[in-house]
Amino acid sequence: MITKNRENIFCWIEKELNPVPCTSEEFIYNEMESQSGYSLPIIYQDFDASDRGHWVDRGMLYDFLYSTDGEGKKLLDFGPGDGWPSLIVAPFAKEVIGVDASEKRVEICRENAKLLGIRNANFVSYKSGMALPFEDNTFDGIMAASSIEQTPDPKKTLWELYRVLKPGGRIRIYYEALSDYKDGYENDIWIVELTESKCKLILYNRDLENEYALQYGLTIEMSKEELTKRISANGEVSFAQVSISFLEKIQHMITKAQVCRTIHPSGKTWVSWLKEIGFKAALPTYSGGMAAGKLFDSYTDDNRPSSLDSVDEAIKKIVKIVTGLEAPIGFDPMITAIK
Ligand SMILES: C[S@@+](CC[C@H](N)C(=O)[O-])C[C@H]1O[C@@H](n2cnc3c(N)ncnc32)[C@H](O)[C@@H]1O
Repeated sequence: MITKNRENIFCWIEKELNPVPCTSEEFIYNEMESQSGYSLPIIYQDFDASDRGHWVDRGMLYDFLYSTDGEGKKLLDFGPGDGWPSLIVAPFAKEVIGVDASEKRVEICRENAKLLGIRNANFVSYKSGMALPFEDNTFDGIMAASSIEQTPDPKKTLWELYRVLKPGGRIRIYYEALSDYKDGYENDIWIVELTESKCKLILYNRDLENEYALQYGLTIEMSKEELTKRISANGEVSFAQVSISFLEKIQHMITKAQVCRTIHPSGKTWVSWLKEIGFKAALPTYSGGMAAGKLFDSYTDDNRPSSLDSVDEAIKKIVKIVTGLEAPIGFDPMITAIK
């Protein structure tokens, strides 16, 4: 449902700030030092077996590895961000290539690979919307985590990924489902720190029914801390705190306004596109991340495995099973397709 506040704010931004349409890498990925907020286990943090999120991360590693049948093979990581999952999967693969439309992300992935001493992962950039810089039938498997829906035309991107995948090869897609935002998060807000004195206010206008989102990005000469303080109520920043009068008050500090439109297919749409493109099978399954999280919950603090090796041992078996189990479409936002 479109609320009055939402309508007014976005109309005001369109009229007063004339936001420049741009791609997602121009919108945000080129500007972030770390796309993950330095949160990734192994890549940015030591593995911590008492942290549920770290188990989920290991579950996702084996998910991508088993779903692509990628052990000892040549894999593509489409849109690796900070090097995820390429850098955690690389030790088990023959070779991983990460391709990203953001040169900044490629630079960060290369740095992270170097810091981790990973030599069989390489990263390349290309221009968004153009053909991928690979020959037909190059990769044994493809991993795409929250990335296809960040491209200007996800269906066209899937055609490209089909082209570079070998016959019989598998692609594993982890997608951002807009259904997660229903009942209150159709309008949303995020503040990203750009420098100590500059931040970006991102306002989301999600259209769940029509499977797309508009993100408005306002670069503001104000620290993230200050902006957060000015639009918080009870310590919480929410879309409802942003008003036109507030935007008018800070208008002189807004140095850039952008808008980025992203398409977010539902599980049903992904499956129909994959089949139309020619994939022999497209199977929504449970995710290794979810399984690893539930496994973590089944232990107590006293009997939970505590080393990386013992956690991996426990996780691997269960991930192998769940990633082959068909799930109701949209239950877990992961799909495996076979060329
Ligand atoms: C949400 S991030 C996901 C990063 C990482 N896969 C993860 O899950 O942590 C989306 C990534 O897709 C990349 N991206 C955006 N447009 C792209 C395009 N046209 N081709 C390839 N990658 C793209 C972004 O630069 C970013 O690295």
